[in-house]
Amino acid sequence: MRSLLAPGAAIVALLSASRLAIAEDVSPFSMDTEDDVRKTASIVAWDMMQYYKGNVTGATPGILPGPPPAGDYYWWEAGAMWGTLIDYWSWSGDASYNDLIMAAMQWQVGPNKDYQPPNVTASLGNDDQAFWGMSAMLAAESKFPDPPSDKPQWLALAQAVFNTQAAPERHDQDCGGGLHWQIYSVNHGYGYKNSIANGCFFNLGARLYRYTRNQTYLDWAVKTWDWMERVGFIENSTFAIYDGGNSDHNCTDINKAEFSYNNAIFAQGAAFIYNATKDAVWKERTEKLVSYGLKTFFPKGVAVEISCENPGTCTTDMLTFKGFLHRWYAVITQIVPSTAETIAPILKKSAAASVKQCTGGALGRQCGFKWATGTYDGKTGAGQQMSVLAAVSAQLIGSAKAPLTDSSGGTSKGNPNAGSGDNVPQHDRPVTTRDRIGAGFVTFTMVALACGVFGWMVLDGRESKTS
Ligand SMILES: *[C@@H]1O[C@H](CO)[C@@H](O)[C@H](O)[C@H]1NC(C)=O
Ligand SMILES: *[C@@H]1O[C@H](CO)[C@@H](O)[C@H](O)[C@H]1NC(C)=O
Ligand SMILES: *[C@@H]1O[C@H](CO)[C@@H](O)[C@H](O)[C@H]1NC(C)=O
Ligand SMILES: *[C@@H]1O[C@H](CO)[C@@H](O)[C@H](O)[C@H]1NC(C)=O
Ligand SMILES: *[C@@H]1O[C@H](CO)[C@@H](O)[C@H](O)[C@H]1NC(C)=O
Ligand SMILES: *[C@@H]1O[C@H](CO)[C@@H](O)[C@H](O)[C@H]1NC(C)=O
Repeated sequence: MRSLLAPGAAIVALLSASRLAIAEDVSPFSMDTEDDVRKTASIVAWDMMQYYKGNVTGATPGILPGPPPAGDYYWWEAGAMWGTLIDYWSWSGDASYNDLIMAAMQWQVGPNKDYQPPNVTASLGNDDQAFWGMSAMLAAESKFPDPPSDKPQWLALAQAVFNTQAAPERHDQDCGGGLHWQIYSVNHGYGYKNSIANGCFFNLGARLYRYTRNQTYLDWAVKTWDWMERVGFIENSTFAIYDGGNSDHNCTDINKAEFSYNNAIFAQGAAFIYNATKDAVWKERTEKLVSYGLKTFFPKGVAVEISCENPGTCTTDMLTFKGFLHRWYAVITQIVPSTAETIAPILKKSAAASVKQCTGGALGRQCGFKWATGTYDGKTGAGQQMSVLAAVSAQLIGSAKAPLTDSSGGTSKGNPNAGSGDNVPQHDRPVTTRDRIGAGFVTFTMVALACGVFGWMVLDGRESKTS
């Protein structure tokens, strides 16, 4: 367990130094007025950023401490954190972290400017790469400050990620199509084809299409959706989305765990497509996914990560998902305005609950994960802070601009050919990779045995990876 609790005297000193009045287990935060929401968001953001050490001299910019076992966080999580902070800036107007966001997202682009830096290839999933790509896309849609002209631009970075994932090397005929979870066939987890890898690609394609109107992006998004239905990862009667399946079983061994981010990434992508095409099929898909998602992941109007929260088996990765659910659903209310009436009241209630349990840590205001219980669960972390920041700052979306496009005020310069030619041959991989895979597999087997039925989710949660 990670905890910022310091020994007795230090706690007393910190508590009395804090300007917030802290009664035991009472959240210092208010969500009553828009100003309260801003203030709450800014403190939760500050507390989240205390996990970031990339701006300390000698440290690597852009990443959270990790990957395990060196630290708690895989590379992708920082990519998601910068996206959360771009939304925070865009919705609240607080630009305090913009320089850090810029430095981080530029440092990690990698030699081919497509978010595949050599340091992380040993455990690089299509989803990991895409989380950085989606944050670059968000920067373009939000008119986040453009990088200097000699640096890679946001739209071009998103296109680069998309192009590497659309390359024929990543789309074999296992399971009739779709992306593998991992990018490299020697990585542990390559044989798994899953909803999040394909959901990220779908989401990015939908947004690139809306932004640029290049038909190629839409074609890929449609193709990805159709495959998701064909393979049964999207159950098209209920609109449940399952986690994935293995290519050596032609993906028929479906792992039926349901995670909130899989629902939200497809719902938001469908909403972008509807917004751009006005095609009723995509409106219906958006509405069905949203209606299923609200019912399933907000059981009493407060977000719950149903597949792991109550057994208490959520991995570090999974502690971030409810934040994406809030952010992406909030954007759906902007681009498919007819959904706002049903979505907005639930996000509001859930956001209020999210901060009520922020009574942990040395300052008595850090967040845990079990929002629906109303009580801090004893564990702090970057993911817990990020999810609450997302839920709280999304409450400000009402006065914010909808995502821009290149014909409605977006300024980011694209390059439709960015990223091409970077499908690194397998023998270019770092020599240490195979050793790490061996160790990873042992860890996976032990974790899977220990966790019984949750073994599969643990695999998806990357606990198996030791690189
Ligand atoms: C790094 O950034 C965090 C968050 O803004 C800030 O609190 C901290 O003081 C910064 N550290 C350095 C060494 O600049
Ligand atoms: C890769 O790792 C090295 C050594 O830790 C570090 O100096 C470098 O900045 C890292 N590169 C990226 C893109 O993070
Ligand atoms: C559901 O998916 C199947 C393929 O599994 C497809 O043939 C059918 O048209 C889909 N139904 C709807 C309503 O989209
Ligand atoms: C493998 O799965 C795909 C998608 O469900 C299906 O179209 C294909 O026919 C299957 N192949 C075999 C050999 O069963
Ligand atoms: C697309 O989104 C914009 C921005 O919110 C909105 O004004 C417009 O009505 C949406 N289009 C459709 C077809 O819903
Ligand atoms: C559209 O995107 C595709 C795929 O990235 C690219 O090859 C093509 O050049 C683009 N077309 C235009 C007109 O930009």
